[in-house]
Amino acid sequence: MPVTAIVGAQWGDEGKGRMVDWLAQEADMVVRFQGGDNAGHTVVNRLGKFALHLIPSGIFNPATACIVGTGTVVNPETLLEEMAALEAAGVALDNLWLSNRAHVILPYHRQLDGLQEAARSGSRIGTTGRGIGPTYADKAARFGIRLGDLIRPAYLRERLQLHLEQKNRTLALFGAPPLDLEEVTAGCVRYGEILGARIVDTLPRVRAAVERGDNVLLEGQLGVMRDVDWGTYPYVTSSNPIVGAASAGAGIPPTRVDKVIGVVKAYSTAVGAGPFPCELDDANGERLRLVGAEYGATTGRPRRCGWYDAVAVGHAAWLNGFTTLAVTKLDVLDGMRELKICTAYRLASGEVIDWVPDTPDMQDATPIYETWPGWSEPTTGVRAWDDLPKAARAYLHRISELAGVPIETVSVGAEREQLVTVLPGEADAGRTAPRHA
Ligand code: GDP
Ligand code: IMO
Ligand code: MG
Repeated sequence: MPVTAIVGAQWGDEGKGRMVDWLAQEADMVVRFQGGDNAGHTVVNRLGKFALHLIPSGIFNPATACIVGTGTVVNPETLLEEMAALEAAGVALDNLWLSNRAHVILPYHRQLDGLQEAARSGSRIGTTGRGIGPTYADKAARFGIRLGDLIRPAYLRERLQLHLEQKNRTLALFGAPPLDLEEVTAGCVRYGEILGARIVDTLPRVRAAVERGDNVLLEGQLGVMRDVDWGTYPYVTSSNPIVGAASAGAGIPPTRVDKVIGVVKAYSTAVGAGPFPCELDDANGERLRLVGAEYGATTGRPRRCGWYDAVAVGHAAWLNGFTTLAVTKLDVLDGMRELKICTAYRLASGEVIDWVPDTPDMQDATPIYETWPGWSEPTTGVRAWDDLPKAARAYLHRISELAGVPIETVSVGAEREQLVTVLPGEADAGRTAPRHA
């Protein structure tokens, strides 16, 4: 399948980076299409363990062109740190390109992210503090600075003058000191000098790849429940992690996206505030956090953990039109006596729904669960569907059935090769009814 999007079906951290690293072994190009260095995409392969923040997870294959797409927001400072860390680990970056149309995160965007969070006091979003929201806000307000501006000093100075007039007014509201035009311009020009050779018009490259029928992967950041339109607004990020944004963010017509893989964790996790109906504040939640090593790759915060939420994944399946699912972290459930799957929410009004409502209703929603038997056998060593424990196959089948999407891959460990490729129709085997509804 030439053009394949890989997107998050839950609250983020589903294992998108891990899946892209696996698929990129056969990819000619990987495009990160939205988000910024708020992402923490962990990849474990023969070269080591890496937490990628902005660089596409296909970077380990030297034959894969890796593009930081137009829909992303780029902090040159952290990008250079990430590049240096990869190079120090022996990863060549000759295949890394940056879209000249991507927007630039500048130091005061991070400063504003912090100031705005502090001003929200009791209703903080719990952002990653990377300046994502303020940068996308400037992009939409048309005051943004783009990567291509960094390599045109005269034009850059003109843009920054307009930009800083706005910024300094905002900073003054927070009692922060104004920014100096010459200082900011000099910093940007320096980044332009260092990164200039990689800053290109990515569209001709992407278009040529698609027209040649190359294998192109579109890598998403975060998941549907943090989508600025379809997530739990305002507890969301400032871009669209759904596949519709892959088309805009990479520069590929929607009709040329052939396949959409929804990455789903076998349970739920979330970082940051906002409704999360299946959250567990008990020993099971603590166990998932411990066994699943559920700590944010970008912020180090403990992730909120809970049972699998089929309502959220159903929302993702519709909005993204998943062609297949990649289920990750099945091994984390090994040894749990029983498992729960949320199939509906009960609202404060008593109404029972099987779709994601708007945030105030979602805030008060309580999950309705079915219970499934667990399994005691370890799954990390399993490489074939038939070798998975019967109860695990039944659980996976139910996940697939509730999403209405076939499972293509089951990940049973963080390392590249630790997965089961599911053959078409195979996941229908071993179906059983839930123990009690
Ligand atoms: P992403 O943001 O969607 O790329 O996901 P993250 O990398 O932030 O979080 C997923 C975490 O789970 C990372 O630490 C991965 O190394 C790890 N991981 C991915 N797949 C598996 C799996 O199947 N089993 C286990 N035990 N860990 C996994
Ligand atoms: P990956 O790509 C998990 C969360 C933050 C906060 C909200 C908004 O690794 O899945 P932002 O900094 O984007 O303005 O924060 O989104 N968040 C993530 N949660 N994984 C991520 O990325 C995240 N990126 C942002 O915690 O709730
Ligand atoms: Mg992550």
